[in-house]
Amino acid sequence: MKFFIDTADLGEIRDLAATGLVDGVTTNPSLVAKTGRDFLDTVREICAVVPGPVSAEVTALDCDTMLAEGRALARIAKNVTVKVPLTPDGLKACRTLTNEGTMVNVTLCFSAAQALLAAKAGATFVSPFVGRLDDIGQSGMDLIRDIVAIYRNYQTIRTEVLVASIRHPIHVIEAAKLGAHVGTLPPSVLRQMFQHPLTEKGLAAFLADWAKTGQSILGKRLGTAAE
Ligand code: E4P
Repeated sequence: MKFFIDTADLGEIRDLAATGLVDGVTTNPSLVAKTGRDFLDTVREICAVVPGPVSAEVTALDCDTMLAEGRALARIAKNVTVKVPLTPDGLKACRTLTNEGTMVNVTLCFSAAQALLAAKAGATFVSPFVGRLDDIGQSGMDLIRDIVAIYRNYQTIRTEVLVASIRHPIHVIEAAKLGAHVGTLPPSVLRQMFQHPLTEKGLAAFLADWAKTGQSILGKRLGTAAE
């Protein structure tokens, strides 16, 4: 499963990219607004830090303006993925941009029917929002299960399922069990995934016992079996 991070905050992106675990980035207008920074500059800088797909969303509602915005975004860097909403105009724009060789992420997907349309429009990624479905009492993960199963039935479908609106590590694990291609994780969720109380407890015990030996790995040459 590929891990994207869901933020436009360059500090967070640099920090997490340094782990070597980040395959891409997703942004949306709300995440960009939170930074207070210039959108195009931000996308340019993110693309320089993360070589994988970087989603940048159009804000027009009509196909022609979406195409103009999408082409402007795609010119920023090779790894820009143009994000379009799951609307008739968005899917028309998706087909044209895909035909032009631009990666497209179809966002705001809340049903399997919509995900089928995104695949037919040639989307590189479709983004079903699990957390927002859970919020209204529907199962986000049931939607992922349906989309993954449907896409698997057709070898011609190349669209990757990009699980979005992830709220906690359980969403990531459940999506991975279902075989979703990508999860886009808020930075806090990726950090949470490292943590387990037994890891911390075990490490503290190992270090305490090591201190009792009075040794230092770098301070003295280690012997080999032959010596
Ligand atoms: C990413 O592509 C989506 O825009 C994002 O995951 C939405 O997350 P939210 O529901 O927490 O705003």
